[in-house]
Amino acid sequence: MNQNKKLWGGRFYQKTHPLFEKFNNSLQEDYFLAKYDILGSIAWSKSLLECNILTGDEQHKIEYALKKILKIVDRNPIIMLDSTVEDIHSWVELKLINLVGHLGKKLHTGRSRNDQVTTSLKLWCKYIINELIFYLKKLQYTLILQAEISSAYIMPGYTHLQRAQPITFAYWCLAYIEMLQRDENRLKDALLRLNISPLGSGALSGTFCNINRDRLALNMGFYSSTQNSLDAVSDRDYVLELLSISSISMMHLSRLSEDLIFFNSGEVNFIELSDYVTSGSSLMPQKKNPDALELIRGKTGTVYGCLMSMLVVLKGLPLSYNKDMQEDKKILFSAIDNWIMCLKMTSLVIKTIKINQDVCLTSAKKGYANSTELTEYLVNKGVTFREAHFIVGKIVLEAIKKKCTLEDLSLNCFKKYHQAFQNDLYKKLNIFMCINSKNSTGGVSSHQVLNRILQVKRNLYSN
Ligand code: ARG
Repeated sequence: MNQNKKLWGGRFYQKTHPLFEKFNNSLQEDYFLAKYDILGSIAWSKSLLECNILTGDEQHKIEYALKKILKIVDRNPIIMLDSTVEDIHSWVELKLINLVGHLGKKLHTGRSRNDQVTTSLKLWCKYIINELIFYLKKLQYTLILQAEISSAYIMPGYTHLQRAQPITFAYWCLAYIEMLQRDENRLKDALLRLNISPLGSGALSGTFCNINRDRLALNMGFYSSTQNSLDAVSDRDYVLELLSISSISMMHLSRLSEDLIFFNSGEVNFIELSDYVTSGSSLMPQKKNPDALELIRGKTGTVYGCLMSMLVVLKGLPLSYNKDMQEDKKILFSAIDNWIMCLKMTSLVIKTIKINQDVCLTSAKKGYANSTELTEYLVNKGVTFREAHFIVGKIVLEAIKKKCTLEDLSLNCFKKYHQAFQNDLYKKLNIFMCINSKNSTGGVSSHQVLNRILQVKRNLYSN
């Protein structure tokens, strides 16, 4: 590369080695910051005007040219990829110099790529958080539609992957909506810390330009400015935060995937995944594999890896900026890209799922999932909980031996275990009764589920 294409070079005698150049350049990884670098640069030019480093006319020319570059980049966001310059900041500055000549060389006054890069990255993070919230909401919306359809579809709920108590498919959907809402809230929390501008920190100890940093911050859409430049140029906590939110949310998507893979298995058969999101085997013609869900589960590992990579990159770095930190963009971009793809894919899977209602119900009736209700029945008749638990355990054993359900046993049989049993116990064992008895907040009763569906819908529409 021509040494003129560098933003430095004065103190060097020799050209950089091509191998080092390839190694050092980050344009292929940070090109997506173009728009944010330009917005930061426009704001910076206004600060330079404020402290008389640029005249009004000069600032105007620079802003006009930067906006022109913005248009070029908007039209073709990868236009810079065939360039050989070092990074996106160099690309924008050199492009500006191309357009306005000598004047362009004034823009970097009092600024460093150290405050510039973290400003651009923070601006990008703010933008991508809004995108992420959009996709999180979209998935919640898909789940709500599915919950509305399936609010009467009874299926077994599990603990230890053993049938535990009956639930509905809608209730399962609502569980994941809760998780996605927490992910959304975590992103909103992160925004608070992202809204502090590092521009004006210079290389590490501040800028000599007499500017109003808070005004500069506001000009870029931040709420305030950082208070210590040594920290500001070396802070990548916000990258870690986004990676950790990505990891937690991917964990939710992975658990959702695992549930659905299980529900879709030949043995369980609660649902059928659509042809849209499954693939076949090259050898076994009968196969229909849940690839989309397996990939979401797999990519969760990749995203965790990104969080680990970034933590390790930052561990042990001395203050302040170090080139190690350049790795952040590739890592963050990869995690977010995977997360967005998985959010979209999960929506598609949920939207196109077919629920085998009868199989779900039959399975919920098996496995003695109504044993808890029988215990409650005895407790209501004055038996202590521990005693009731033991008695019902024995009754379950008898039903297992007879290969029948609890409700198949005769009243006489129940009476052998406790005299308190009466005919009304069968009502208690009815699966719909089991569901509807859980009627306090957060329970599975249809009243609670319908209420929650309404609340979530109201929330989704209102913000
Ligand atoms: N490309 C670098 C990064 O992404 C920013 C440049 C900082 N370079 C420097 N020599 N201070 O981190």
